[in-house]
Order: sequence, then structure tokens, then C-alpha cells
Amino acid sequence: MAGNWKMNRTAAEARELAAQVVAGTLDVGEVEIVVAPPFTALPAVAEVVRGSRVAAAAQNMHWADAGAFTGEISPVMVGEWASHVILGHSERRHLFGESDEEVQRKVHAAFGRNLVPILCVGETEGQRDAGETDRVVRRQLATALHGLEAGEAARLLVAYEPVWAIGTGRACDPAEAQRVIELIRIELGLLFSPVAAGSARILYGGSVNPANVALYCAQPDIDGCLVGGASLDAAGFAGMVRAVAAEAAP
Ligand code: PGA
Repeated sequence: MAGNWKMNRTAAEARELAAQVVAGTLDVGEVEIVVAPPFTALPAVAEVVRGSRVAAAAQNMHWADAGAFTGEISPVMVGEWASHVILGHSERRHLFGESDEEVQRKVHAAFGRNLVPILCVGETEGQRDAGETDRVVRRQLATALHGLEAGEAARLLVAYEPVWAIGTGRACDPAEAQRVIELIRIELGLLFSPVAAGSARILYGGSVNPANVALYCAQPDIDGCLVGGASLDAAGFAGMVRAVAAEAAP
């Protein structure tokens, strides 16, 4: 269960939110929990979550280790504080013009620095209306993951986030999310191996909240959710983690 805080919370506020998430998820069992604060809050959050089952993630990064890239943050810098990094989020792709090829370089850079990428894929409303969902998702996956080893693909987290469902309150029908996520798993099997496809964790994201999270987690191929707006409420987020735990329990 991952929380994407986007451009919200100062370092002081993030420290407090992270502490609440840690306290609220002490007894949830084996769920992997990730929170992604803004870069400026990453050191504070990393300090708070150290030793807990909550991991810190960056929301983006550049692919180069260092250099003349004003305003960018490198994989080495991210790796000082985070174990995970969200890559190719639709807000990066659509508001900041990130291409599939740039996302590919970032995915490779993440593995090169031992960071777990949370690769986001998903179609726009126009692409869905045109019947292009499957083609778009396959293309995003194939390009972003080109050149990876099967062992790397097995450690990957993929988030299927239909663009029209992000921050709109129009969450994707759980059966349709399952259909696309099953397609992603099949594609990972074709690109790498059935073992890698089985090991990769695939999340759904887009207007997930405490009321609908269990519907996604009950789907056979959906391993968890990437939550934006609703992850800024610590108690609500902890409740969503619990819902995943309940679904994962034997
Ligand atoms: P949302 O965002 O939960 O606010 O829709 C999800 C995301 O962008 O990761």
C-alpha cells in the first residue's frame, strides 16, 4: 500500500504525518507500506520511518548520478533517504512532458542504485474512449522496461493509474482495473518470465479511498493500491493498509 503525498506537506508536517502512519500501522502484519513525501521532506520522513515497516519513496528523480541539471534530484541523492521511487506518474508525463524513453532511463537508473521503482502506467480518457487502453498500457510497459533483466522485473512495482481516475473521484470499476492489471501481468510474463510476472507487485491507483479500497484488493491480480489524496489522512491511510492486510491474510 503506497501513499503519494504529491506537492503537499512541509518537512515538519510530513514528519508528523509519517509518525502517525507508523503508529497507526504497527500491528498490520506483513503488508509492505510506502509513503512518498516531497523531496524536501524526504530526510525527515526517512528518519521517522527508520526501523518500522513503512518505507520512504521519492516521487520522481533524474537518471544521471550528478551533473548540470538545475532543479533535478539524482538517484544517488534519493538513495540516501529512500528505498523506492515513483516513476512515470501521469502528472509527470502530462504536466511536465516526460516521455516513455525518459521513464525507461529512470527505471534503469533506479535499479542501478538499488531503488525499487514504482512504475506508473495508464491511459487518458481520450485513449480509453478510442479503445486504446490496452495498446497504450502495453506500449508504456514495453518501453519503460526495455533492457531490464528478469530478476529486476521481479522486484518491480507497477501501478496502473488511469489518468481520468486520478484526483477526480471517478475511480475505475474494480473489475476493469483487474482486467487491465491482469493484462499487465501477462505482458510482464511475455517480456520477462512467468516467475517475474508472478513476483512483480501490481497496484491500482486513481481515487482510491477507505470506502472502495477493499474492492480493489479483493481482485486476484491487484496486490495493493497507490493512493494520492486519501493518503494525506493518517487514520484513513492506516485503515486502508488494514484492508489490504485483511485481504492478504490466509
Ligand atoms: P488520487 O491520486 O488517489 O488522489 O486519485 C492517485 C495518484 O496520483 O497516485
